Amino acid sequence: MRAVTWQGPKQMRVEEVPDPVLKEATDAIIRVTTTGLCGSDLHLYEPLSPFMTPGDVVGHEPMGIVEEVGASVDNLAVGDRVVIPFNVSCGSCWMCEHGLQSQCETTQNKEHGTGASLLGYSKLYGQVPGGQAEYLRVPFANYGAIKVPQGPPDDRFVFLSDVLPTAWQAVVYAGVGPGDTLLVLGAGPIGDMSARIALHRGVEVIVADRVPERLSRVASRGASVINVDEAGKEFADEVRARTGGRGTDAVIDAVGMEAHGSPMVEAVHKVVGKLPDAISQPLMKKAGTDRLAALSSAFEAVRRGGTVSISGVYGGAVDPLPMMQLFDKQLQLRMGQANVRRWSDDILALLQQDEDVLGVESFATHHLPLDDAPSAYADFRDKKDGMVKVVFNP
Ligand SMILES: NC(=O)c1ccc[n+]([C@@H]2O[C@H](COP(=O)([O-])OP(=O)(O)OC[C@H]3O[C@@H](n4cnc5c(N)ncnc54)[C@H](O)[C@@H]3O)[C@@H](O)[C@H]2O)c1
Ligand SMILES: [Zn+2]
Ligand SMILES: [Zn+2]
Repeated sequence: MRAVTWQGPKQMRVEEVPDPVLKEATDAIIRVTTTGLCGSDLHLYEPLSPFMTPGDVVGHEPMGIVEEVGASVDNLAVGDRVVIPFNVSCGSCWMCEHGLQSQCETTQNKEHGTGASLLGYSKLYGQVPGGQAEYLRVPFANYGAIKVPQGPPDDRFVFLSDVLPTAWQAVVYAGVGPGDTLLVLGAGPIGDMSARIALHRGVEVIVADRVPERLSRVASRGASVINVDEAGKEFADEVRARTGGRGTDAVIDAVGMEAHGSPMVEAVHKVVGKLPDAISQPLMKKAGTDRLAALSSAFEAVRRGGTVSISGVYGGAVDPLPMMQLFDKQLQLRMGQANVRRWSDDILALLQQDEDVLGVESFATHHLPLDDAPSAYADFRDKKDGMVKVVFNP
């Protein structure tokens, strides 16, 4: 089959690789019909290079048609239409039973001290072959695979694998409801969808980013927007000015250690990328990319007693946190990888309404063949060509 493979920092290549086969009784094989490109894939593109092996098949946002099922997969049949969660979770351990599927104790990666395995996401997360490919082996398909109805186009359902549950969890963790105010940092796919979900729940939403097309997209859904570059040092003042001088009830950080646009971070990545893995792996774990720009503005802009909900991915351990500010402002922090299966049934119910309330069918800005992946990664990273969300149709 053809698949998108990681070959080195900033080098993705579409290659012929062996077709996946059933390995466990709980596996299924699917033929992938639509598969997303995510901001998280950009971390693999460069900063997480020390944890990648040339030839790794990437991608974690697939959906498709069941081709084959293992002996103990009794909830799926050949021909079923399914969306596959980005986290690989067993469904029966303590964590899965408590709605913490991204911490699944069966697929945790103890060697690296990390949580549940993820599809197509480096040695840190199990080195599971990913879903930007024509076919995919789905581990724990008996629990993970989300069956969706035939009929509507793939784009109605494909974001159930990651964008929707991640944004949903971000809004739940932000603890906001009708009439509350929410600042969303980042208008990439995750920030954009978080804003849509919050607006749908009657929350007053402000979205901040530096990419004008991304801001106008969320503005057209009813959010008010701030360009962080234009606001500069006055950013938090601007947020307070719009919220009775107080700051928003909650902030969602949908930026994370976003690995581009900061000269310092780029320099670190260049150096780390050239070191042998034995040296660079601990360096990346400890030093990470250590860029807390977005997070610091979250702490500034949230009101006293408010909540900061972090869905952007962070790494590193050397950044000092502003403990005095956190304590003095009496802030609450929630974060983590999305527990996809915890939210997917609720979201699917919303997606099955006739009206496309979250605008998922027009959410992707680009539908591309798999062969375009190498240039799509580069363009998505550089935010070229109005690119917000790319889906590949293998
Ligand atoms: N928690 C999870 O389960 C989960 C799932 C998917 C993605 N993620 C993470 O969410 C983050 C966003 O993903 P995405 O797909 O939307 O990626 P993205 O890279 O397209 O979006 C990030 C956006 O943040 C903007 N930005 C950069 N610096 C900013 C700043 N200081 N203030 C405001 N905006 C700023 C960028 O211009 C960009 O539009 C990534 O870190 C990704 O890894 C987490
Ligand atoms: Zn993703
Ligand atoms: Zn589990």
